[in-house]
Amino acid sequence: MDFTINPLANRIVFGLGATAKLSAEIDALGGSRAMIVCTAGAAGRIAPIVEALGSACVGVFAEVQPHCPEEVVLAAIERFRSLDADCLVSIGGGSSIDTGKPLAVETGKPTIAVPTTYSGSEVTPLYGIVISDRKKGHRDDRALPRTVIYDPEMTTGLSPYATAISGMNSLAHCVEALYPATPNPIATLFAEAGIRALVAGLPASVATSGDLQARTQALYGAYLGGTVVTLVGIALHHRTCHVLGGSYGISHGDANAVILPHATAYNAPATPAAMAILGQAMGSDDPAAALYDLAQSMGTPTDLKSLGMKESDLDAATEQAIEVTAYNPRPLEFGPLREMLQNAYEGNRPTSPLAA
Ligand SMILES: [Fe+2]
Repeated sequence: MDFTINPLANRIVFGLGATAKLSAEIDALGGSRAMIVCTAGAAGRIAPIVEALGSACVGVFAEVQPHCPEEVVLAAIERFRSLDADCLVSIGGGSSIDTGKPLAVETGKPTIAVPTTYSGSEVTPLYGIVISDRKKGHRDDRALPRTVIYDPEMTTGLSPYATAISGMNSLAHCVEALYPATPNPIATLFAEAGIRALVAGLPASVATSGDLQARTQALYGAYLGGTVVTLVGIALHHRTCHVLGGSYGISHGDANAVILPHATAYNAPATPAAMAILGQAMGSDDPAAALYDLAQSMGTPTDLKSLGMKESDLDAATEQAIEVTAYNPRPLEFGPLREMLQNAYEGNRPTSPLAA
């Protein structure tokens, strides 16, 4: 056995009602003047949190926009400075948490993240900022929230659809961590546990938003999914999703739900050990088909056609996916990959039976 692992730098506080510990966590970081960052839609929902913090909360920046436009990030930094805040509390999904990251880098002040979706952004140092319509990606360890408060009660407002697509994104983080460029046994443990938790928690969370037991499982899986992205990175599946998002306007969650079963089927011949783990974790001897069935059962899209993708763009998308994928366990050949995208376009159910 041979592996290198970076210590997971952030403090994780997980549990039902954990948001009540926010004030103590601000104290623990040496803060006394927190600014909260969230979307306008979340402002009402966080009112009780603001009230509970009292004078420890000096302001709320509720102007987060999807994909973190540069002007919003700059406005948040300016507000933070004008409030003389000494720590940041990011509450929300990937966009809220990602808006806080450049602020932490720029000001050097600590961040506490309270995620309300399954994006996993709170445990990665990765973020993107949109500058004149182009998203620029960054990786900076100073961007990593110092503390993450995972409170399943904070996720019950997530709609069934958002739960399903955000959950498929997290599931994809775990699946791709089973076949990394550099084997990492810790990431494998996390990924397998993450898949089990997500498969157990997502369908019931979609069916009943307030099912706290299911929400706990799903959020635990999302934590593990975000963590393994940082540990071992991504491959064909996520790169393809980034192409579909960046060039064809398909949202990251939708792209994840459609592509994951197909990318899994594409990689299955090259990753028998990973497929055996995935099959066991999903309770299926055909992991790609099981992923497709899971997505379909939760009501997520299963084809690119209904998401507005044009068949005439599939050649270019295939070429772009090959271009941007730095690592994949199975070599990327135009023919088979084009076929994968055709199947994803049509919404065909893929299959990858495990060897007997
Ligand atoms: Fe993702």
